[in-house]
Amino acid sequence: MKKYVVFFEAKGGSDKGPDGHRKDTMPMVNALKTKGWGAEVVFFTDEILKDEAKKNEIFEHVKNVADAYVSRVNPGNLKEEKLYFDVLRKLCDSGLIGMPHPDAMIGYGAKDALTKLACTPLVPDDTYAYYDIKTFKKTFPKSLAKGERVLKQNRGSTGEGIWRVRLEKSSEYNKVESLDLDTNIICTEAKDNHSETRQLGEFMDFCEQYIVGDNGMLVDMTFLPRIKEGEIRILMLYKTPVYVVHKKPAEGGDAFSATLFSGAKYRYDEPKDWKNLIDWFLGQLPDIRTRLGNYDLPLIWTADFILDTDENGKDKYVLGEINCSCVGFTSPEEFMAKIAVMVGDNIVDIVSEKKA
Ligand SMILES: Nc1ncnc2c1ncn2[C@@H]1O[C@H](COP(=O)(O)OP(=O)(O)O)[C@@H](O)[C@H]1O
Ligand SMILES: [Mg+2]
Repeated sequence: MKKYVVFFEAKGGSDKGPDGHRKDTMPMVNALKTKGWGAEVVFFTDEILKDEAKKNEIFEHVKNVADAYVSRVNPGNLKEEKLYFDVLRKLCDSGLIGMPHPDAMIGYGAKDALTKLACTPLVPDDTYAYYDIKTFKKTFPKSLAKGERVLKQNRGSTGEGIWRVRLEKSSEYNKVESLDLDTNIICTEAKDNHSETRQLGEFMDFCEQYIVGDNGMLVDMTFLPRIKEGEIRILMLYKTPVYVVHKKPAEGGDAFSATLFSGAKYRYDEPKDWKNLIDWFLGQLPDIRTRLGNYDLPLIWTADFILDTDENGKDKYVLGEINCSCVGFTSPEEFMAKIAVMVGDNIVDIVSEKKA
């Protein structure tokens, strides 16, 4: 064991502090150093990824010095996302511990993780993923005929391309097997909660943009009206819940978005305040892991839940999404230093266990 960890970061972007790093990166580096480990940050840019010589130099260096890498790059912000994943995959193949492995980033982080979990209590059965336009246009008019839906594109994490879709005439649900293309629908985008009245056929044409291209897809899930009561985010360090963020959407109108930009209010709670949810979720972890490709759990990740009501009128939680490729813990600021130390402890434990 080398007792050395490399953190990968991207250059630029609005999340960086004056030293060019994400604000929570150096606290993790320093936490490792305090424990007698070595750590450094290596930057990736699209230019480096396209430059074979530079890319290989980084690969060789990291392979030689480190036991593990921690990826802190939002792959969606790189043009050369695929080349980035290739480097990570090669490092894992040569024995490094990937935090996370690139395929785990895709497995946990892509929106279709929901459909892979649709057979578990975490996600409703009638959750679908569309990878081609034809299936989307055939199936969506049927799912919307039964009730209000949310369509989710795979890219981004700001509510852009996340659409709440409902019929203009709410009396028209469950009347036909499949809706006509000229049915009037009301679409609300999570980015800013704005609503538009459109026709189903025209709206589906508009949504083709989300399906085409690398990793394009649309996930179609039932709209959960109790989103009004808030989205509940669990911040996880590997197997351990660290805190819970309760995100309450803006009041009134069609608002359903939990993003800060759209006016949602955040409250930070201790895991013990959400004991039922947390105990239940931790019990699901082995199943989640198996169904999302059997990769190790990510180092820093989040799971978002929305309340629903079961057949017996009892509360139940539905998983809305998992994030794992660039999760930060800069807010609330007073938790940051403590969490960085916990991350350092987790890294040392994971590496020591795997390299023993
Ligand atoms: N099934 C759903 N029912 C109700 N609201 C939802 C549902 N899915 C998502 N939302 C709302 O839309 C927001 C954005 O969706 P999300 O899946 O988190 O995508 P993003 O990657 O943009 O964060 C959520 O924060 C939540 O407020
Ligand atoms: Mg989200």
